[in-house]
Amino acid sequence: MGEVPNRIVLVGFMGSGKSAVGTRLAVRLGYAFEDLDRRIEKRTGRSIAALFAERGEEAFREEELQEADAIARLDRCVIATGGGAFARPDTRARLQEGALTVWLRCNTEELLSRIPDDGTRPLAGNHAIMRALLAEREPSYRLADLEVDTSGATPGEVANRIADLIEQRTARERIAKR
Ligand code: S3P
Repeated sequence: MGEVPNRIVLVGFMGSGKSAVGTRLAVRLGYAFEDLDRRIEKRTGRSIAALFAERGEEAFREEELQEADAIARLDRCVIATGGGAFARPDTRARLQEGALTVWLRCNTEELLSRIPDDGTRPLAGNHAIMRALLAEREPSYRLADLEVDTSGATPGEVANRIADLIEQRTARERIAKR
């Protein structure tokens, strides 16, 4: 590579700050920002909550896969994904294509305290279920190229850390190529 990757895909659990960090990281890199869930809502004309309620989780996961396919054609952008996207092998494979993937890791208590049970996230609400879901998905999140600890950090701080890690990585790759 030796250059900033064409696409940076942020993965991690609900409440890990993917959208808030993504918008800031995009500004710092001069990249566009895309949010997988917002794109699904726009394309289907339904909120995520309505999609789950009317068509079920499986149908939502199919929409997610389709959208992951569509964003694999975009250039110079930072992409925030929904918390379940990277846990699906087929969707994960699409998200990984030609991209640098970054896991926004966070300690569980802080994550749970950041997720409002306001009806916008159909899978939120029950902390026991959330903990089980987190344990189930963690091995998938670990497959990301980079991980950054977001515990106690603001979205701006996390965005700067990611940008610094990317710069270090591209500098190392440049040296290795000499
Ligand atoms: C989900 C997370 C949500 C959204 C949907 C399902 C999940 O996105 O995609 O409610 O399975 O964890 P956020 O991670 O942005 O909340």
